[in-house]
Amino acid sequence: MITTKKLRQKYLDFFKSKDHTIIDGACLIPENDPTVLFTTAGIHPLVPYFMGEKHPGGNRLVNYQKCIRTGDIDDVGDDSHLTSFEMLGNWSLGDYFKEESIKYSFEFLTGKEWLNLDINKLAVTVFAGDEDAPKDDEAAKLWQEVGIPTNRIAYLGKKDNWWGPPGITGPCGPDTEIFYWVGEGEPSETSTPGTEPDNWLEIWNNVFILYNKTAEGKFEELANKNVDTGMGLERTVQILNGFDSVYQIDSIKPIYDKVLEMATDKDIIKAIRIITDHIRAACFIMGDDMGVGPSNLDQGYVVRRLIRSAIRRSREVGANDECITVLGKLIIDNNKDIYPELERNQQKIISELKVEEEKFLKVLDKGEVKVKEFIADGKISGEEAFQLYTSYGFPIEEIQRLGVEVDMEDFNQRIKSHQDLSRQGAEQKFAGGLADHGEMATKYHTTTHLLQAALRKVLGDHIAQKGSNITAERLRFDFSHPDKLRDDQREQVETLVNDYIRMDLPITCEELSVEEAKNTGALGLFNQKYGDKVKVYTIGEGNNIISREICGGPHVKKTGELGQFKIKKEQASSAGVRRIKAVLE
Ligand code: ALA
Repeated sequence: MITTKKLRQKYLDFFKSKDHTIIDGACLIPENDPTVLFTTAGIHPLVPYFMGEKHPGGNRLVNYQKCIRTGDIDDVGDDSHLTSFEMLGNWSLGDYFKEESIKYSFEFLTGKEWLNLDINKLAVTVFAGDEDAPKDDEAAKLWQEVGIPTNRIAYLGKKDNWWGPPGITGPCGPDTEIFYWVGEGEPSETSTPGTEPDNWLEIWNNVFILYNKTAEGKFEELANKNVDTGMGLERTVQILNGFDSVYQIDSIKPIYDKVLEMATDKDIIKAIRIITDHIRAACFIMGDDMGVGPSNLDQGYVVRRLIRSAIRRSREVGANDECITVLGKLIIDNNKDIYPELERNQQKIISELKVEEEKFLKVLDKGEVKVKEFIADGKISGEEAFQLYTSYGFPIEEIQRLGVEVDMEDFNQRIKSHQDLSRQGAEQKFAGGLADHGEMATKYHTTTHLLQAALRKVLGDHIAQKGSNITAERLRFDFSHPDKLRDDQREQVETLVNDYIRMDLPITCEELSVEEAKNTGALGLFNQKYGDKVKVYTIGEGNNIISREICGGPHVKKTGELGQFKIKKEQASSAGVRRIKAVLE
């Protein structure tokens, strides 16, 4: 059997042999980027480097990246969609382009010492062209040259063969996707992913990052021609072993088997798969070094939904109530060698699972009482069911499970208008696109460093960054500190930051190894993953160094550019963590 470990290593070895630098993956919760909830692809943390910044690892990079995608959540339970998955990626930052990218992919997939896949079971799609970019005949020709027959190359439109990051703006371009045959027997002469989409599984996507999509929806050509690829680790292991589903691979099967063992109704395969998927994803989100537990906000809300949906389904299949914590432990144990943060955050993961389970069981009990109150002639109205859901979090499926009839048409209509409203809110929130590198956001990045320096001076060296979120309107900074700031402390911090600004200090950047960075006393999340080389930003010079931090940037050149600093709010964020919101006026 080919394991995930083996494929991951082969991928890294292959691209290392093609002069790629192995870089570490990033956290699942994007830092300094309020526009997306999760890291959804390996390119996400690398976006600044596609926009022209220099990467310390060079122009050819490779890594593995844990990802979360909630967009496909309705497909979870089928053979291949997962909420939490790993992406193997290789990148060219203005170095090689289509020809090498396609050659490398073909060699890795079909080479005897690499994956040795059957060429007859491979097919590709390329971009069909539209008003924004031309048809990609070049990619099609390159595929033919390496050995993919014409009848296995399909031209598809933007919906299929164009990739841009999850934000509305940012680097993007046409892509070519690689598929493997998962249908019965052999594919027919004319079969392609265009004609028989269900029988071909996408395993790899090579994106030719040529454009930056602006907020106005224009596609501006980038200075460089770049490549961004992503191979789905779990899916590829699935097809390499000839498995019918991703639940049979080494990293998922033990979890799936455990759910099956605990279930009394073992035939509800879809529910068993969903429990497996959702608890895996919840554990990865909570176990991230920037991880969050269940709540009603942003990522926390996703975690809550995942856990609650898994609990509901574990009841459906008749598993006992400890089911999810048993799975949590197994998930941590099975993945901690590759993702040691799961072990570091083990206690948090397990206790959050327990607490959320208790909370949800209370919701279910309370909901049942309410259903009994509302019920008339064995029925409840759509409005009441909607109220149960929005006010108590009591899911519609639970009402149905109690054998109570609900006016579903009315309920669905209410849910739809509720979702439309939330979507509008979310779209506004995410309208900024990818990490904002505009003038104001850049100023707030630098101000955040000054704020951290001032906090350490006023409150002490125990202050460590717990989170940061920057928009063009404000900065938000979370830091470890047990108490509310007194008025005089808050004032001192504000004055100090404004003093630093008035001193008009220079900001300089150096590229150092993590070890060197540590030795210079730079602040950074050292238990987090960094590439071999990191950027260290220093504010001040000579004997007047105010701050040194490991950071991706961007920053202004002199603190004098910043303006007047003002703390707008200081409040608790979570136990032992305070949050400051501040602006430049
Ligand atoms: N960024 C590309 C994707 O996610 C590779 O498909």
